Amino acid sequence: MKLTISRVDLLAEDVRAFELRDPAGAALPAFDSGAHIELHLSAGLTRRYSLTSDPADLSHYAIAVLHHAGGRGSSLLHERFKAGDTIEAEAPRTEFALADARHGILIAGGIGVTPILSHARELARRGASFEVHYAAHSRERMAFRDAVEGYSGGRAFYYISSESGRMDVAAILKSSPTESHIYVCGPPGLVESVRETAAGLGLKPDQIHFESFGALWIATDESVHLELTHSGLTLDVPVGQTLLEAIEAAGVWVPYDCRRGECHMCLTQVVAGQPVHRDHCLSQAERETSMTPCVSWARGSLVLEL
Ligand code: FES
Repeated sequence: MKLTISRVDLLAEDVRAFELRDPAGAALPAFDSGAHIELHLSAGLTRRYSLTSDPADLSHYAIAVLHHAGGRGSSLLHERFKAGDTIEAEAPRTEFALADARHGILIAGGIGVTPILSHARELARRGASFEVHYAAHSRERMAFRDAVEGYSGGRAFYYISSESGRMDVAAILKSSPTESHIYVCGPPGLVESVRETAAGLGLKPDQIHFESFGALWIATDESVHLELTHSGLTLDVPVGQTLLEAIEAAGVWVPYDCRRGECHMCLTQVVAGQPVHRDHCLSQAERETSMTPCVSWARGSLVLEL
């Protein structure tokens, strides 16, 4: 569907909010708390963003986008798209749904607050028991703090790493009721820390719900020289383009679903090279021989069985 960007606002340092409407003003398709939409930003480049607007108000959607170095999607949105532009989008989908639970622990890292905000609003509406733990690098980068505070009614806790206020995941989970459901969205390290800690405390897998950011690059990442054995192609993949996007652009099909390192679908055999695993789904044994090109990266050259 086509959507018109009706307004753009600076929400926090490097974070912009985009409001999207039907071009003719019609009501938009319904969605649930925790849903995302996928935007087509340019040829072959799609990105998913959590909806931060209220599902009860279908006059518009809202998303919040952090501009991070090396992020092609966020760069395009911040630098090229403005109010009045039209953008192609898929209908909302929910893969980070709320469960019925006696107590919810909502954990956000940075811009991972977007689906957590949505869940806090819904849990508040239900009159459910929950608490929010929100970590950010600085106060200036903390989007939606007032809204989180408003929904949580004094049950929100904030951790600013630049002020030494780091989140102690183990302490949070150890002090929560055993029947709690945990929801986490944030950078890979936070998601993994919550999942490992929760599993170590004996929480059942269906009590742990997570959504990750998808592909991210770090300052020391460099372009990857990629060889595909079956198709005989060689590709130079720059930082900012995922290996999966480069492979698709070269006309080679790889099955995929989440494109966030969560589902296993794009599992690909590694023939040679040093993958840098950034998924949330492979076992250690699988990582010995395979990788997920939707989010994982490599050092130098990489040969894949494709
Ligand atoms: S597409 Fe889901 S792990 Fe790659």
